[in-house]
Amino acid sequence: MTRTVYVNGEYLPEAEAKVSIFDRGFLFADAVYEVTSVLDGKLIDFEGHAVRLRRSLDELEMAEPCTKDELLEIHRRLVELNGIEEGLVYLQVSRGSDGDRDFVFPSADTDPSLVLFTQNKPGLADSPAAQKGAKIISIEDIRWGRRDIKTVQLLYPSMGKMMAKKAGCDDAWLVEDGYVTEGTSNNAYFVKNGKIITRPLSNDILHGITRKAVLRMAAEAQMEIEERLFTIDEAKEADEAFTTSASAFVMPVVEIDGVALGDGTPGPIAKRLREIYLDESRKAAV
Ligand code: PDD
Repeated sequence: MTRTVYVNGEYLPEAEAKVSIFDRGFLFADAVYEVTSVLDGKLIDFEGHAVRLRRSLDELEMAEPCTKDELLEIHRRLVELNGIEEGLVYLQVSRGSDGDRDFVFPSADTDPSLVLFTQNKPGLADSPAAQKGAKIISIEDIRWGRRDIKTVQLLYPSMGKMMAKKAGCDDAWLVEDGYVTEGTSNNAYFVKNGKIITRPLSNDILHGITRKAVLRMAAEAQMEIEERLFTIDEAKEADEAFTTSASAFVMPVVEIDGVALGDGTPGPIAKRLREIYLDESRKAAV
């Protein structure tokens, strides 16, 4: 079955969807994005993603392509047209193009490009990968200084994933000035003596929508949380570790740089948080 995608006001079969070769998203990575998960055919935390999208656009002085209600309608329609029960909706807004390549931004009346597509991922919630837990490596964080803006500059995160694969692992955590920033496409946490430790929000990391929800749920479940900088060595000595993202929810981490955490299987806090997150998110889905 061919996917129906959305491009600038039109719902089209994926092979017919077109964006200009002069689009600034294509030429300059001048674009921002969001990934929203779908469970039971419904959107998880749409509101959070819409608010962050608005913030990313504002930070880059990029025009909003449409209203939040229109965005919700497009998300829902794509989920329905593509029969997605479990999966993801990818959304990208670029600064568009005025028909040529120029480092200078086009005039303010240039229309942004808005593209959305779905990814069907049966078994996203009941994931075998989450039952096994992820093995990660640490690599230097050489990304730009505004990681709080969700831009499509994903070359280095992609390279990081490839470095992890080559090392026989699943993912990489990024380290800057001796401290872990985040994962290639997720926020990073470890647990020591029952306390969850994660880096505080700043321009150095993406303000994860899943992070916000999981920390709220952990606090509600009386779990202890500390937001502070941490080193990869501290994480290697942890009882357990995990990551959070819209695409993998709460993912246990069982190994860091070849060092097994705890007994080398997903830890109890990560497993519990995954359950709570999935349960509560399903209830609140729209
Ligand atoms: N990535 N940090 C980075 C660098 C990310 O790319 C992501 C998400 C997160 C987690 O944010 P959230 O909980 O809002 O998904 C943290 C998405 C899933 C992606 O690029 O596919």
